[in-house]
Amino acid sequence: MLNLSKIVTRPVIAALALATVSTVAVHAEDAKPADPKLANSLNANDKTAEQDPKLLKQDAAVKVDDGKYFDAEGHPTFHVTQDGKMLDWYTYSGYRRYHAECHVCHGPDGMGSTYAPALKDSLKHLSYEEFIGILAGGKQDVNAAEQKVMPAFGDNKNVMCYSDDLYVYLKARAAGAIGRIRPSEHEDKPDTAKKAEKECMGG
Ligand code: HEC
Repeated sequence: MLNLSKIVTRPVIAALALATVSTVAVHAEDAKPADPKLANSLNANDKTAEQDPKLLKQDAAVKVDDGKYFDAEGHPTFHVTQDGKMLDWYTYSGYRRYHAECHVCHGPDGMGSTYAPALKDSLKHLSYEEFIGILAGGKQDVNAAEQKVMPAFGDNKNVMCYSDDLYVYLKARAAGAIGRIRPSEHEDKPDTAKKAEKECMGG
């Protein structure tokens, strides 16, 4: 004899099971920290990097807009991939700008000197707004026995047009995403960066 109850209930159970699976899937999606494309892949063997897990987490990119990465607060951040070999354009550009404009006082790779502080440490606590403010307006410790001055770069286009680049490079050094490296590979220069550079340098 034909068992009617079996024929009727099976599809219902199947539908219920499907519904459960899809709700679970949606939750799993929500719980993901970020798009895997945005995750960093660092060089675990680079002892000069001094990785700071808390900062690496805090600085993790949650968004990318034409090659420019942003953290959860909406500030620019770095993106390091291929076991630390590949830098996003802005971090690479920041490395170059830093070694053109800042290293004479702040030392190579943000390591500091007898004259100026190690920016790889300063950027562990300075906010984006504070960094940009100091860069544009300068800083002077009036109480210091020796007068040490951070010049104001507000009028210097070679610095201010690349302020975000400098910031993300120094953030990458502060979090230990990159060590004392000479970057070899980088993501392509985004069209947005080309346009912004032209407008900033020319205007
Ligand atoms: C002529 C030397 C000199 C140059 C060039 C220079 N700085 Fe400085 N910078 C200093 C000194 C000195 C201080 C410390 C000032 C103080 O604390 O009073 C400083 C402080 C800073 C600080 C604050 C650090 C902290 O811990 O509060 C930041 C950020 C900074 N510099 C960024 C830069 C960047 C980025 C560049 C390159 C575009 C640069 N500086 C170029 C001398 C320099």
